[in-house]
Amino acid sequence: EKPDNCTIVIFGAHSDLAARKLFPSFYELALWGHLPDEYRILGVGRAALSHKEFRSLVREKMVAVLPDLLRDEAAYARFSARLFYVGVDFAEREEYHALQKAIMSGEADSATCRNILFYLATPPVLAPIIVRNLQYVRLGEKDVSLPGWRKIIVEKPYGRNLQTARELNTVIGEVFHEERIFRIDHYLGKETVQNIMVFRFSNGIFEPLWNRHYIANVSITIAEKFGIRDRGSFYEGAGLLRDIMQNHALQLLASVAMEPPVDFSAESVRDEKAKLLRSIRPFTPEHAAQSIVLGQYDGYRSEKNVAPDSTVETFAAIKFFVDNWRWKDVPFFVKAGKNLAETVTEIVITFKCPPQNYFGPAESCSYTANQVILRIQPEETIALKFGAKRPGEAVITDPVFMKFDYKTSFDEVGATPYHRLLLDAMAGEQMNFIRQDSVEYSWAIIDSIREAVGTQPPESYSLFSWGPESVQGIYS
Ligand code: BG6
Repeated sequence: EKPDNCTIVIFGAHSDLAARKLFPSFYELALWGHLPDEYRILGVGRAALSHKEFRSLVREKMVAVLPDLLRDEAAYARFSARLFYVGVDFAEREEYHALQKAIMSGEADSATCRNILFYLATPPVLAPIIVRNLQYVRLGEKDVSLPGWRKIIVEKPYGRNLQTARELNTVIGEVFHEERIFRIDHYLGKETVQNIMVFRFSNGIFEPLWNRHYIANVSITIAEKFGIRDRGSFYEGAGLLRDIMQNHALQLLASVAMEPPVDFSAESVRDEKAKLLRSIRPFTPEHAAQSIVLGQYDGYRSEKNVAPDSTVETFAAIKFFVDNWRWKDVPFFVKAGKNLAETVTEIVITFKCPPQNYFGPAESCSYTANQVILRIQPEETIALKFGAKRPGEAVITDPVFMKFDYKTSFDEVGATPYHRLLLDAMAGEQMNFIRQDSVEYSWAIIDSIREAVGTQPPESYSLFSWGPESVQGIYS
């Protein structure tokens, strides 16, 4: 079923995100026939551009992302004709009248402009300003003078810390109802991430073992073999803890560790995630050295728009504990970083060794076999790693794999996280968006990491390594 006719308003129409993800996703959704019959996309940015100039700008950027875009000129022309633009200084509330006029203008029929999906692809400091200004020109969802629905998608990072996230929640909450606020974390749109719950709760095999009695530790890695690219100023204001740990990494942790939900509804699933995040043990300065390592890659300080004495982290390795009945004292090693040895995202669940190991040193079993490996990317696989007898006279165990691979088991689906999440938001499906309470619990954890570390600068690490050497210290 197609979503309702609507106007999609993208704040930050010139952003890297809009060029790389949003416009290409909307275009592909249009090509596949998933967008409503009547829709238009209204870009909002500071620059003064005509619709025509905006269309050629979007086209230029999209060709760079989807090189075969021009294969179907006619289809692209149909999409492009639905792109419009309005120049607004985000901080100037009087300028929002122009936006209001553009939305209500006769350029599209009334059915199209009645429903509005706002997308904030803007830096976090602008979010409360934009929302207040929408309210000022009566475009807020709670303003009943407008017919149709209004929804808002807010990009991460959602605030900078607990306090600013709370402030943002208060401001947005005055203008939109919680069920119309979509805090996006694109990791939750990944097929393999959505599959974590299915893997755990649609099979009777794994869940009985999924606890402190059988699991020795869980390790989550989000590694990238590239740096901050051209996002120097963003990174200087964010750092890896805000960019990846607060959202993607903690969401993976919540998915792998949460309790079974009461049912498979958005609220029940999000209740369990919130509960899990609330159970994560806060960090203290006394324990910081054994549980937190922050790093910065060599050469970061010479990146464009980065301060020559920057102390911003591009790497973090953190030992979390979840203080609940299921996980008490099981370490969750979470590591994420830029310019590491490999680009890989995976979750490794390591089971305890058998009580007696006849086939090798007892302590070695966990590190060679005895694991469930959920690989999120680049390959989308789930593997069971276990010890098997190497053929031959001697009894020697080798780790081997039983592997499920999306590509070989299913026809490949071209949808990406943004395709899925944009459609979900249009349809009002909240399951894969972050609820207010979870955002706040996640920030409380990140704030406690920051406070525990204090002013200690990150350790440097060589390019394409696995981070600073001291990381080994937290695994003990
Ligand atoms: C983004 C971060 O949210 O996620 C980037 O801002 C990071 O720094 C990216 O590179 C990783 O996403 P993916 O889907 O490529 O793993």
